[in-house]
Amino acid sequence: MGTVKKKHDQSENNNNSSIISSSVFVKCDETCKGASFPEEVYSSTVPLSHRRRYAQFFTPPRVAKLMAEWAITSQTKTVLDPAVGTGTLIRSALARNQNILITAFEKDPVILRSFLELHPPLSHIEPIFSDFLTYDLKCEYDSVLMNPPYLRHHNLRYNFDIFDWFGKIHNLKLSRLSNSYLLFTLKAATSLRPGGRASIIIPTEWMNANFGAPMKDFLVGRGYLREIVYFSNCSTIFEDALTTASILFLERPA
Ligand SMILES: C[S@@+](CC[C@H](N)C(=O)[O-])C[C@H]1O[C@@H](n2cnc3c(N)ncnc32)[C@H](O)[C@@H]1O
Repeated sequence: MGTVKKKHDQSENNNNSSIISSSVFVKCDETCKGASFPEEVYSSTVPLSHRRRYAQFFTPPRVAKLMAEWAITSQTKTVLDPAVGTGTLIRSALARNQNILITAFEKDPVILRSFLELHPPLSHIEPIFSDFLTYDLKCEYDSVLMNPPYLRHHNLRYNFDIFDWFGKIHNLKLSRLSNSYLLFTLKAATSLRPGGRASIIIPTEWMNANFGAPMKDFLVGRGYLREIVYFSNCSTIFEDALTTASILFLERPA
């Protein structure tokens, strides 16, 4: 997967050095990119405007494989995908371990229908048609694999103050300028059982933007952050979307 160099406690990214204990910088080459079959079918039939509204940009299979290698082990029994889309991450999880039960959230009925049509009936997937952010989870999971929607604050439409609500739940003061991926990351991390692992792909802006400060405090201060894969800004990871990318490897302290 292109050039990889590993750094410890010396992020090239100026003021992040104190919060990142271990990071891997990756220059993505062509093999990182490209969508696989269900994603191509969906993208060619659903208008881009609809996909943009829900932030439907798909994890390339090679990146999904890398994410599963951290989060899914032979011991994994329960897996959460909070934003399943067409199921790229689920497929990478099942390729690692077929004895898992997957809970998969999706808010958009159009893509959920496509996901159910394009995948054979799988007894070990529980699809939940709901907003992950407001759903009351009843259990904790061994693993989380997640590529959340990246939606700016003015595209988050809730009839209550979701930032204040989330802040109170996590005992953090959250900015009303936070991107949706910050809320997803906080909820995904706290959905892990002690010792559980998560791989989460999100943009890199939270590392420098003011709105990212509470998430740094949370991930580092509460001991979740194990490693960050930081994709070079010269790389474009997602087809149809110009965004920076990093993968967080998390582990909930036991
Ligand atoms: C960036 S895509 C990722 C899809 C897939 N997991 C992947 O990695 O390729 C995010 C998905 O989250 C869905 N989504 C958006 N808002 C959501 C919400 N509040 N709760 C659950 N899913 C949501 C979108 O419809 C979209 O399918």
